[in-house]
Amino acid sequence: PTTTRIALLGAGNVGAEVARILLEERDELTERIGAVPELVGIAVRDLDSPRTVELPRELFTTDADALIDSADVVIELTGGLEPARTRILRALNAGKPVISGNKALLARHGAELHAAAEAAGTSISYEAAVAGAIPIVRPMLDSLSGDRVNRVLGIMNGTTNYILDQMDTTGASFDDALAEAQRLGFAEADPTADVEGHDAASKVAILGGIAFHSSYTIDDVYCRGITGVTAEDVEAAREAGYVIKLLGVAERVADDGDPGQPSGVNLRVVPTMLPRKHPLAGVHGAFNAVFVEAENAGELMFYGPGAGGAPTASAVMGDLVAALRRSVAGGPGVGPSFHADLPATSVDGVRTSF
Ligand code: HSE
Repeated sequence: PTTTRIALLGAGNVGAEVARILLEERDELTERIGAVPELVGIAVRDLDSPRTVELPRELFTTDADALIDSADVVIELTGGLEPARTRILRALNAGKPVISGNKALLARHGAELHAAAEAAGTSISYEAAVAGAIPIVRPMLDSLSGDRVNRVLGIMNGTTNYILDQMDTTGASFDDALAEAQRLGFAEADPTADVEGHDAASKVAILGGIAFHSSYTIDDVYCRGITGVTAEDVEAAREAGYVIKLLGVAERVADDGDPGQPSGVNLRVVPTMLPRKHPLAGVHGAFNAVFVEAENAGELMFYGPGAGGAPTASAVMGDLVAALRRSVAGGPGVGPSFHADLPATSVDGVRTSF
């Protein structure tokens, strides 16, 4: 079989697991893909940073651009807007498929990235950007593309669910639970993005865009995190038969002229009191769950590990195998790019009351 050259950008919790899988499962992946997936290099900022997985030192480089130029396909797992955006555009503009887990970037510049992929006849795939291992992006893009989705609702951030769950079940303090989530590798490098709800808001923007065949940015999402949730709130909720969960919601609504929201749609992240018998109340630890309500399908629930190195690497690998299979089949490696030609809707200001 031919060899496909894979460039990996980033060797954090997820990147290191992707590298491990590519090295350990090379023979089996070759059979599945029909080409040898050869990891040719891993671009990092600091060659000497400690890694969660031991990896061959000769793979590491600090020259991301040269690595991208030498590869057939690029996996971006560095996070942050820049230089991730410029690097992804460099790969896409050269016609190379890109797999990314960068929700902040997709929720800010998704329309630009899709347009670049479309123009170059290639693809950008990002299953790992939403809810870790849970297959939700491609099912919504593909399996539900013939239905009309009315609402997407769920627990989309593992760190905050872990914190709220620990506070609820063990009486742990917010700070101790956050420290544990960081130790377990669920939290973002800067956990502010988790606890303030921004990480979940990025996911709401991405899933809402797919659900409603449009393109939203994080600015379109009203967002309130969990830093204001106290042990007393959790205790009071429990005594009343409720549990507090951070929910992300994207739903069709009657157009109320709210300048903080896209027309006919409401996108939000808010701590919510859920009755204990609600299915989402049973989502514990760093697990995520996404409900999709569609006109013909009815109610669907997607549940699983929403964060962590290996689970999120599983989603990256799925996108990679899919892209490489398309290439092997002679296709352009085209991925989810159908909203490339829709204008990005970015609305200033946020909704402040309901
Ligand atoms: N920090 C994120 C979370 C990782 O806790 O869910 C997955 O996006």
